[in-house]
Amino acid sequence: SKNINIAIDGPAGAGKSTVAKLVAEKLSYIYIDTGAMYRALTLKGLRKETDLENGLELSTLLAQTKIDLRVIEGNQKVFLDGEDVTSEIRSSEVTNNVSFVARQKEVRQEMVKRQKQLAKEGGVVMDGRDIGTHVLPDASLKVFLSASVDKRAERRYKELIENSVEADLETIKSEIALRDKRDTEREVSPLIKAEDAIEINTTSLTIGDVVQQIMSLVKERA
Ligand code: C5P
Repeated sequence: SKNINIAIDGPAGAGKSTVAKLVAEKLSYIYIDTGAMYRALTLKGLRKETDLENGLELSTLLAQTKIDLRVIEGNQKVFLDGEDVTSEIRSSEVTNNVSFVARQKEVRQEMVKRQKQLAKEGGVVMDGRDIGTHVLPDASLKVFLSASVDKRAERRYKELIENSVEADLETIKSEIALRDKRDTEREVSPLIKAEDAIEINTTSLTIGDVVQQIMSLVKERA
């Protein structure tokens, strides 16, 4: 069997990162969370009070920014210029601003370049919004995970409560709907299912079900 690349795309809260991490673990592949890269840049931009609507300013900032994704004892860690920002990039301030950063074409150009570089040897499971369409158009397997807004909000809510973060289900639902809207309606690389992607609607599936389905698709291809 060979080391293929696997692209996993879909809207916020569809379970991409959980599933992608488990699939990578089973295959001893590298998991790459591209959303974390956009989040890390957003955090830096917020700290430096960069205009998040200014693509040139942001891409200049990105050029001077080191973003490292590492899995340490099974947990993904994100480092921004050497600083562990794993929790901070999940804050609601970053979450509610990241779509502005991600819609700048100069930012996407550089991010896509870095992501292609990370996958050039194969053996990568990468999740995001444009992986199957732009980052890894030749990926051997492309999966598009979807789920109802209600279900996605419910999952995010449970996750926050389990991590003792105060949360309100209706607020989460409207934030997810707003981020979906921004991500699907933007001009550059909007969230869209690649033509050759296999869609899995996870609304009534468990994480284990989804992982199993993806693993059997991998077996057909690797
Ligand atoms: O996956 P996650 O929810 O962490 O992604 C955060 C945001 O980053 C998304 O809402 C989207 O705006 C942006 N993103 C993107 N392209 C990717 C991954 C994430 O535009 N490949």
